[in-house]
Amino acid sequence: CGIVGYIGPKEACPILINGLKRLEYRGYDSAGIALIHNNNIQVYKCKGRVQDLEHHMELEDTSATIGMGHTRWATHGEPNDANAHPHTSMNGLFSIVHNGIIENHALLKEKLQARGYSFQSETDTEVLANLIEYIYTKGQVNAENAVRLALTKVIGAYGLVVLCKNEPDQLVVARKGSPLVIGVGQSEYFVASDATPIVEYTKNVIYLNDDDVAILKRDEMILKTIKNTPVSLSIQQVDIDIEKIEKGGFPHFMLKEIFEQVNSIYDTIRGRVNAEASEIYLGGISEIIPKMVNAHRIIIIGCGTSWHAGTVGEYIFEEFTRIPVEVEYASEFRYRNPIVDANDIVIAISQSGETADTLAAIKYAKAHGATVIGICNVVGSSIARETDAGVYTHAGPEIGVASTKAFTAQISVLAMMALQIGHRKGTLSDELYKKYINELYNLPDKVKAILEKNDKIKEIAAIYKDSTNAIYLGRGCQFPVALEGALKLKEISYIHAEGYPAAEMKHGPIALIDENMPVFAIATNDNYYDKIVSNIKEIQSRKGHVIALVNDNDAQVKKLAEHVIEIPETLEYLSPLLNVIPLQLISYHIAVMRGCNVDMPRNLAKSVTVE
Ligand code: G6P
Repeated sequence: CGIVGYIGPKEACPILINGLKRLEYRGYDSAGIALIHNNNIQVYKCKGRVQDLEHHMELEDTSATIGMGHTRWATHGEPNDANAHPHTSMNGLFSIVHNGIIENHALLKEKLQARGYSFQSETDTEVLANLIEYIYTKGQVNAENAVRLALTKVIGAYGLVVLCKNEPDQLVVARKGSPLVIGVGQSEYFVASDATPIVEYTKNVIYLNDDDVAILKRDEMILKTIKNTPVSLSIQQVDIDIEKIEKGGFPHFMLKEIFEQVNSIYDTIRGRVNAEASEIYLGGISEIIPKMVNAHRIIIIGCGTSWHAGTVGEYIFEEFTRIPVEVEYASEFRYRNPIVDANDIVIAISQSGETADTLAAIKYAKAHGATVIGICNVVGSSIARETDAGVYTHAGPEIGVASTKAFTAQISVLAMMALQIGHRKGTLSDELYKKYINELYNLPDKVKAILEKNDKIKEIAAIYKDSTNAIYLGRGCQFPVALEGALKLKEISYIHAEGYPAAEMKHGPIALIDENMPVFAIATNDNYYDKIVSNIKEIQSRKGHVIALVNDNDAQVKKLAEHVIEIPETLEYLSPLLNVIPLQLISYHIAVMRGCNVDMPRNLAKSVTVE
């Protein structure tokens, strides 16, 4: 979900609406705004998109200079008008927007009901609004204290903003587990779940930590902990270019982000890989490199696309460093009593740096003594701050819900790490090390060459857009690419798709092959080439349609497959970076042709801060 708030001399509403549009990628089931005007809290909310909310508010007087807004990704209660945020307390004294989950909401609700409170929605947030009001009225404390006291009774996660009718010149903001950033302007303050709605007004930000409570008034900001201990303000500069969070001529963020990979891969390696000196330097983990070189095991954790990048990382790491690698879904790792101790290196991968399961898994690993390294895209994010050390991907803001450029940036970081460690360890020869370093700089041009095939890829997409199923095959480090290709198609076009290691086909999935099944086979040159050729023949003899990714100089598959997409040749362990791109484009075009909302696919959220 996304939160935005404003207090200052300007009209709040346009700032809030604009901010919600920037945050809409975080949740788009419903949207709402609350303003304080003439000592009254005005709430406008509705199911649907921010645009619907704008429409809904058209004729209203919205000249207030303080307010807050929310876009929702439903956890408790279906997406409808009543469940949309902001939620107002029963007697109308408080209004709140909230991200996260109040785990003990049922118990709190019962207690409040016993004290005469009634509820309009099914949300845990309304429980919190009423709890704050109850403490405020009963305890005769001010709004800030009521919020702090209420939060001591809450189990769960929150990022929230509270408005109080009787104290109309302040926003009370609190964070635990769900990110919030304060923007510090000239006699004005902003608050948001990430910096994207803030950067067009100010670059000065304060990232809240867990248990922080901020009171934003017209002329000052006070920061303290939930237990009332003062916290000093540490203002940082964010460096987000406004162009990077706009579509810049592309019809969708996803397409823009796919095309950005020419630069984003380069931005990730720039300043870290010195081709002339044949050196890799990752400043964020330089002190941990010796420990990594001697590690007996590396555990990689992540969710979704980040888990796929981690799985590519497993192949690269094991090949170059000969250190055994385990890749786990963060959600499984955190709950299964995993064996992890001070000898382990854990690498946590997350685009947003906020995924709740990944964050919890990191905390578990740290508590058991492991050294945890983060690979995050969002600077200053919770995971970036929670880890012992880390490497940012520098892919720039990723807005499309389906991750694209973050994936290639994550693999680029993993490759740099594995190359550096393998070389230090002596498990990777000087010669190969240099070869890979040089090749990293050739990648942007090769990405460009693939993107130039966009029209051809679109034609292929048109042929298969009405499929109900699809299979993606790859072997070795192309297997996770097959998984990622299938995930992209599922996420945005709602076609059922599965990724498989090609040889596993005959152990089950081959039963699915018939004349209606498109099979995307990754058949670029590597050790597995001959094997995948046989797999393609197996599919064709069962009338499946093969769309193959091949290298320019391919001899066999071009003659066999129904369609081929040519990919410039690269080194084996960098090829996932190129091979995924046509698969991203295929999914994109199919989804657009099917009339799907590619940037905001149904039921999905960009950043999942609940478990
Ligand atoms: C969500 C997103 C995915 C993403 C996953 C992990 O499910 O929709 O695109 O891969 O979370 O997110 P992270 O920010 O931790 O990489």
